[in-house]
This record gives sequence, structure tokens and C-alpha cells, in this order.
Amino acid sequence: MDPRVEKRLGLKGLADKIVTAEQAAALIEDGTVVGMSGFTRAGDAKVVPMALVERAKNEKIKIDVYTGASLGPEVDNHLAAAGVINKRGPFQGDAVMRGMINKDQISYVDAHLSHNAELVRQGVIGPIKHLILEAVAITEDGLIIPSNSVGNSPIFAEYAENIIIELNISHPEALIGIHDIYVPGEQGKRDAIPMTNAEQRIGEIGIRVDLDKIQAIVISEEPDAPSLIVPPDEETQNMANILLDFFRSEIKAGRLTNELMPLQSGVGSVANAVLDGFADSEFENLVVASEVLQDAVFNLIDAGKVRFAAATSITLTEELQKKVYGNLEKYADKICLRPQEISNHPELIRRLGLISINTALELDIYGNVNSTHVSGTKMMNGIGGSGDFARNARLGIFVTKSYAKGGAISSIVPMVSHVDHTEHDVDVIVTEQGIADLRGLAPKERVKLIIENCAHPDFKEQLWDYYNRAFEATGGAQTPHILEEALSWHVNLAKNKTMKKEVTKA
Ligand code: COA
Repeated sequence: MDPRVEKRLGLKGLADKIVTAEQAAALIEDGTVVGMSGFTRAGDAKVVPMALVERAKNEKIKIDVYTGASLGPEVDNHLAAAGVINKRGPFQGDAVMRGMINKDQISYVDAHLSHNAELVRQGVIGPIKHLILEAVAITEDGLIIPSNSVGNSPIFAEYAENIIIELNISHPEALIGIHDIYVPGEQGKRDAIPMTNAEQRIGEIGIRVDLDKIQAIVISEEPDAPSLIVPPDEETQNMANILLDFFRSEIKAGRLTNELMPLQSGVGSVANAVLDGFADSEFENLVVASEVLQDAVFNLIDAGKVRFAAATSITLTEELQKKVYGNLEKYADKICLRPQEISNHPELIRRLGLISINTALELDIYGNVNSTHVSGTKMMNGIGGSGDFARNARLGIFVTKSYAKGGAISSIVPMVSHVDHTEHDVDVIVTEQGIADLRGLAPKERVKLIIENCAHPDFKEQLWDYYNRAFEATGGAQTPHILEEALSWHVNLAKNKTMKKEVTKA
């Protein structure tokens, strides 16, 4: 046996389960539900899905795939393009898969990420025939150590009929010890989750499985696909500065201290850039209790700003992958990976008092947020954990640039074309133009702040024009709208490629 494999396979009795990726892929049955490890391109099953892609060249095979969140190209791109995926949940972020979802070639269940484990327990998702689980090691006593994400793997492992392990020896051994696996029991019979601060460890370092379910072990050396976020720009830097000033005013008002509260920051370039803004600030001793640890978190650990960071996955660009995975020992006592039902648990988010920062595609003049559907119909990525956090956070903040597609689109519209986060879950909005603190405000009070502080100057007049006429038309109703016109900006965009009104008149 390869000595590198021998080192990672503590339970030697499992050695006779080692097979090739092709042999493991041959075990997957057509028409079944398959759970896979992986969360936002981290810790995903890779070689067995790619062997399934090969198998699908000669044979019809279609499966339902559930994961933690989005996976790298092996599944969400290649497996999708090979026509193997019938249904996909609960999150994706790939251009190929997105295209197939929006052409009715894949059915997509976009769901709150904390909900999946409960649905597995209830049998709504399942029966799960196989779990394909990437691991860095199997300990002597049979604990499976996941790689750089945990996601839904513990609950899949409990309920799957069979488990195929991809033992990935390219991941650093120093990952052993950073996981904290705690799995709540059945609803109605479970105890309170015993965590009262975000730095507490409450579980085991690996996933405990019924060893008889381990059907195959495939040795892999495939690295994770790097994250594709783009570096901060002047506008996202500006958004970060606006947010930092807001935190300063909250400290002045006595609602926060310099350590703030545990921070959650969403996926994508904008959320990463905003978090990056803390690097040059006076804030320190920060704790991150998030879903994904992106580049910014490790930069903040290096800058001495973050003392501890917990999440369910680590998703890094190529540059940061080299830096972090090459020196993981340096970060090991400062980071922790948990199952997504713990990182995103409403009970803990509320108890710990998180400050949650997520990204909107568009929002309306009353504070409803659309994070998922372009012009109300086409899926972008999914709601991910944003709803888990926004509704339960102490402070639910949404960030977005005030415009998209070179200025043709206003991110602030009369009525959102799809609602992910209702006005009741949105406390604060930040764009590169400014901030709207909506807490304690009635809908009509919010309008002025959102239009004046957050909208792009090119669209302000048009937004006021809509609101004033809606106010008149409804006699100042609780939430004024002109229903025939509320989505006309999106109609204009579809017809004329811009939301600017002059074009409608032309
Ligand atoms: N209408 C149409 N397209 C829009 C748009 C709008 N109102 N606003 C943004 N876009 C487009 C951008 O032009 C860009 O397109 P491109 O990839 O072709 O350049 C794309 O959406 C991404 O926008 P960007 O400004 O680069 O932001 P981002 O990378 O931060 O992603 C979301 C923003 C909303 C797509 C992303 O954060 C997301 O999927 N969020 C939902 C899930 C979530 O919040 N998870 C975190 C929970 S922990």
C-alpha cells in the first residue's frame, strides 16, 4: 500500500474495500438518490462523479444529487452536462448547471441550507442509496475525517444505505482535528444544542458511521477547484467603509462593543470584499461564525483581527489555497468546521447574536430582497444560508452594488421580481452609494432612506416618480404600489435591455 494511504487509513481492516473510481461508480444505481459531500467547491466528491461521467457515455443513468451546497466542476458542471443529474439540491453556483436548470433539463430544489438535515430525518429527502464522501483520513476507531467542508455529510452518513469514501491524500493532514461534528437527534426528543459561544467545541473530530455501510474506498489526489471570486474594487471597498462607520455608530449608541458580535458573511465577491475592509480598521478580537470561510477571513486572521473563525467549509482562491493549506498548522487552533445544520442553526444564530452580511441581487423600495432569481424567473445560484442567517441574526445586513450590467440595471426597483428575504428580515442595506438602517421603520419611512441613500443617482428620480404616484393611487396605503406598473422595470429590461425609463417612452 502507498505509505501516504497507509498513514491516512487508521482502521486497517478497511484496506480490502479499496477499489478504483470506475468500480465505485459502477455501484451507483440508476434512479436513486445520492448524497455527496461538498460545500461551495470545497471537500466535494470528485473522482467517483467523474467516473460516472465516463459511465454515462455508454449507459443511461440519472440520479438525484443532494449535497451541502455548490460543488466544483466535477459534479455541477461535468456530471450535469453528461445528463446524469435529474434533481439537484440544495444549492449550486455553476454556469452549466444554471443553464440546464433554466432550460428545464434539471429540476432544482433551492432550499435553506439548515433545513436539509431535518428533511433527511423526516424521510422527505431519501431514501439515500449512496453517500459519496471525501475524507482526509479514517481513524483507528473508524471516525471518518472530512476534508475542508462538512456540509450535510454527517446526516447523509447516518441515513444513507451505503457509503463510498474518496480518501483524498492531497489535502493536508493538519485538517485532522479542526472539525467539530455534533448531530442533533430527532425533533421533539433532542436536547438544546450545548453551545453558548461560537468558539466552543461540542462534538467529535470526525463522522461516526456504521462501518458495515462502507461499500468502497477510492484513493484520490484531486485538489478542490479554487474559488472564483474577484478581488475587492473601489466600490466594494467603499461599501466596507460605510459598514464600518455603521458599526462605529452602533458602538456609540451602546448596542455593540469594539469586538462586535460573531460575524457571518455570505458567499461571492461582494461579501468577501466587504469583510476584507476590516483589515485596516480598529476592530479586533473578532469572531467569525459563518457558513463559508472565504479569502478575507484568513487575511483577517493574518492581520490579527480575527481570533476565531467557525463555518462549514473553507473556500479559497488559488493563491489563498497555497498560502493556507501550505501552513494549515498556523491556523488550526483558530478555525473550526461544523455540520451545516449547526453553522446555520436558527437556535444558535439567535442565541449567539450574529451580525449577518449577505448579498442581494436586487431589493425594493420597501426592503424586500431578491437574492436568487434574475428578473424573477432565471435562477442564479440559490438562497443558500442567507435566509437561515438573515431571519435569525441580531443584525441582518444586505449588501449589493446599486447597479448591475454597466448601469443598465438598477439593483433597487419598485417591487422585487422574486422575494427571498421579506422586509421583516432585512435590517440594514448597504450599497456603494450609502446605507439605509431600516430597523424600527414603517414601509413608507423606509422609502426615503433606500432611495436617497442607496439607489444609483441615474435611477433616483424614476424611483421617486413611481413611489409618489403609487402613494397617490393608493391614498397612502401601508405599502403603496401600482400593481400594473410594479414590475415594469423588469419588462423594460427584457424589451430594451435597460431599466431606464426614457427607453420605454422612445
Ligand atoms: N439583475 C441581473 N443580474 C445581476 C443583478 C441584477 N439585479 N445584480 C447582479 N447581477 C449579476 C452581476 O452582473 C454578475 O453577473 P456576471 O457574473 O455575469 O458578471 C452576477 O450577478 C454576480 O453579481 P456580483 O455583483 O458579482 O456579486 P456576487 O459575486 O457577490 O454574487 C449573488 C451576488 C447575489 C449572486 C450571490 O451572493 C448569491 O448567490 N447569493 C445568494 C446565496 C447566499 O447569499 N449565500 C450566502 C449565505 S452564507
